Amino acid sequence: MKAVRITGRGGPEVLELCEVPDLSPGPGQAMVRVRGSAINRADLLQCLGQYPAPPGAPQDIPGLEYAGEVVALGAGALDLNVGQRVMGIVSGGGFSEQLVVHERECMKIPADLDFTEAAAIPEAFLTAFDALVLQGNLRVGTRLLIHAVASGVGTAALQLGSLAGALVIGTSRSHAKLDRCRSELALAHGILCRDNPPRFANEVRAITGPLGVDLVLDLVGGPYLNETLASMSPRGRLLQVDAPAPPDEQAPHLDRNGSPQPPPRGEDGLGPGLRGTGASRLRRRATQSGRGFGLFNR
Ligand SMILES: NC(=O)c1ccc[n+]([C@@H]2O[C@H](COP(=O)([O-])OP(=O)(O)OC[C@H]3O[C@@H](n4cnc5c(N)ncnc54)[C@H](OP(=O)(O)O)[C@@H]3O)[C@@H](O)[C@H]2O)c1
Repeated sequence: MKAVRITGRGGPEVLELCEVPDLSPGPGQAMVRVRGSAINRADLLQCLGQYPAPPGAPQDIPGLEYAGEVVALGAGALDLNVGQRVMGIVSGGGFSEQLVVHERECMKIPADLDFTEAAAIPEAFLTAFDALVLQGNLRVGTRLLIHAVASGVGTAALQLGSLAGALVIGTSRSHAKLDRCRSELALAHGILCRDNPPRFANEVRAITGPLGVDLVLDLVGGPYLNETLASMSPRGRLLQVDAPAPPDEQAPHLDRNGSPQPPPRGEDGLGPGLRGTGASRLRRRATQSGRGFGLFNR
């Protein structure tokens, strides 16, 4: 089969279309002919050598999601049929013609979505759904603040928040992105964050009134944390999904030979974007005070 392989470290120029061995489904697995995949931030970082695939996933074929049709089933795979249209999340390897996944990890593609549309759903929408709905208790009338609202996960969260009847406020460093979020995705309030550290708490409270927001989905972290806390109501919930903006965000993590390395994790288990921000202290304080604080720092 053909697959897009990472042949070095860098941008799109390190990607090559190559022949790789065909796959076959094991017990309980479905083999999917991939018709679409999508590009996430993690794929770009993987090309740069900063996001090694987890054990068991192809190290050199990016792609965390797929849409396609089932072409073969392994022994004991009884829930799917050959020819069925499915989509899902994988740990890597999505940029290839074939994938082998456990049949229970496949989601059926709704009839009104084509493969290209379906391929953009799993990673961003499941991440946003998990954070906002399963962990964040999103409800009608929730005052919701989304940092990096124009990102992949942010735009998914914006759509889920609007559908749920929340009041959605979003931040971005780009005027043009906020304009598109307002005009195309019905963002109620966009706040431009051009300063470092950013300032948005007063603007948030001017929108919500003195109570602030009930729920924050923070996809940025780092210097956003203090203002985020100042924007939140008592018993508000903060869901931190990774943190691309560490205080020393531009400092590359290099080994002694100068090769890029994944960011080190501290004894507190936090990645660099959350360290130095008081996140572990906050987590302790939040746990003691009953204020929800979720950390997703992959
Ligand atoms: N399951 C999971 O845990 C999971 C799954 C998917 C994604 N994620 C995480 O969710 C986040 C969003 O992912 P994505 O794929 O949606 O990303 P994306 O589309 O590439 O967007 C990332 C956005 O983050 C903002 N940003 C980046 N660096 C920043 C900085 N230094 N300061 C302020 N803002 C910064 C930018 O927004 P503006 O230019 O608009 O300011 C950028 O567009 C990432 O951290 C990713 O790792 C986690």
